[in-house]
Amino acid sequence: MRTTVGIIGAGPAGLLLARLLHEAGVESVVLESRDRAYVEQRQRAGILEQGTVDVLRAAGAGERMDREGLRHDGIELRFDRTRHRVDLPALTGGSAVTVYAQTEVCKDLIALQLKEGGPLLFGAEALAVEDADGGHPRVRFRHGGREDVLHCDYVVGCDGFWGVARRAVPAALSRVFERTYPYAWLGILADVPPSHDELVYARHDRGFALLSMRSPAVSRLYLQVPEGTDAGAWSDEDVWDELERRLETGDDWRLDRGPVTAKSVTPMRSFVHEPMRYGRLFLAGDAAHIVPPTGAKGLNLAVGDVVTFARALVHERDTGSADLLDAYSETCLRRVWQAERFSYDMTTLLHRAPDATPFDDRVQLARLRRIAGSRAAETDLAEAYTGFPLG
Ligand code: APR
Ligand code: PHB
Repeated sequence: MRTTVGIIGAGPAGLLLARLLHEAGVESVVLESRDRAYVEQRQRAGILEQGTVDVLRAAGAGERMDREGLRHDGIELRFDRTRHRVDLPALTGGSAVTVYAQTEVCKDLIALQLKEGGPLLFGAEALAVEDADGGHPRVRFRHGGREDVLHCDYVVGCDGFWGVARRAVPAALSRVFERTYPYAWLGILADVPPSHDELVYARHDRGFALLSMRSPAVSRLYLQVPEGTDAGAWSDEDVWDELERRLETGDDWRLDRGPVTAKSVTPMRSFVHEPMRYGRLFLAGDAAHIVPPTGAKGLNLAVGDVVTFARALVHERDTGSADLLDAYSETCLRRVWQAERFSYDMTTLLHRAPDATPFDDRVQLARLRRIAGSRAAETDLAEAYTGFPLG
């Protein structure tokens, strides 16, 4: 097989890239190791920055998002049994976020790709990227029990944190920056209307809690739990009881309970691989960087990467200049590190470390009160939350 751009992975990064290239008249082939049902069911975050919404819309993938997505103009910070609303548009000159689950983004992009785009092969596992720094990179892969080779002009590794693309970068050229956190998130999906119409981020002495949603009828809630927690160790009732404690306010707000339809644990990690390019291999999304979920930046970063790549490739085709492709890694990493910084800040602002001292607790509360009391501090949060401009 031969194509212009070989894309490994059909998560949001790979799927959106295939769509952007199709719109620009560039051929691609997507290889995805899992099956379609798996990719469409995987539960992930669901907060789209304004820039992400604009990109999906411009790519012709925004129809259902515009119908079913929920625009949110604020988030609530909850601490010390008090509530503080951050008014996003008022602080950012009009920016907001949209609640639309990543699984839904993937479903929309898969449907479009299968209808109009180039080949998207499920059950096609990339084994290795070869000759990445030469003129003829290729992806060795297994599909339907057979090994095959995809010859490409460019390979984009959109294969997530556990993928193979990153391994093609020689160790001597790789630098990895990493931090793990001594806690994880226990997440539930529940068939109950969200108890608040905007997201609630709660700091509590017992740990962090988050109230989010998937639709007006489905709630998504998270609890900070110790690293290595088994989701099965928590009964539904235990989860609700703990959410109630951590989200409690001094007013008459109440948490509504409903049937839990999914329960899982997400580890928390910050990770960046530099550079994001090696010869004709480009890394995008989780293949190159991971953020802890607190700031909901993972999907939005992946979108930024593939938009940057698609623009750079089209620029080269149209002008003959490889300048933007050469700048890819640096361009992406500037934005990536801002998101890493913000996700780290949000995480340490709201979670209680197992070894937290009374001093740490006071500083955390002081940071929260500073955000609630200073327009400058609050603006800093709102700008990062709604997203930094692309490019
Ligand atoms: N061959 C083919 N496909 C692979 C391989 C491989 N060797 N290894 C992994 N994959 C596939 C995975 O099955 C997955 O579908 O690559 C895809 C990677 O998708 P994601 O993990 O969703 O990563 P990405 O597209 O970068 O999206 C980033 O996902 O993890 C969340 O929070 C993160 O929202 C962010 C987003
Ligand atoms: C989610 O709804 O899954 C979600 C929302 C906000 C976050 C993280 C996850 O910060």
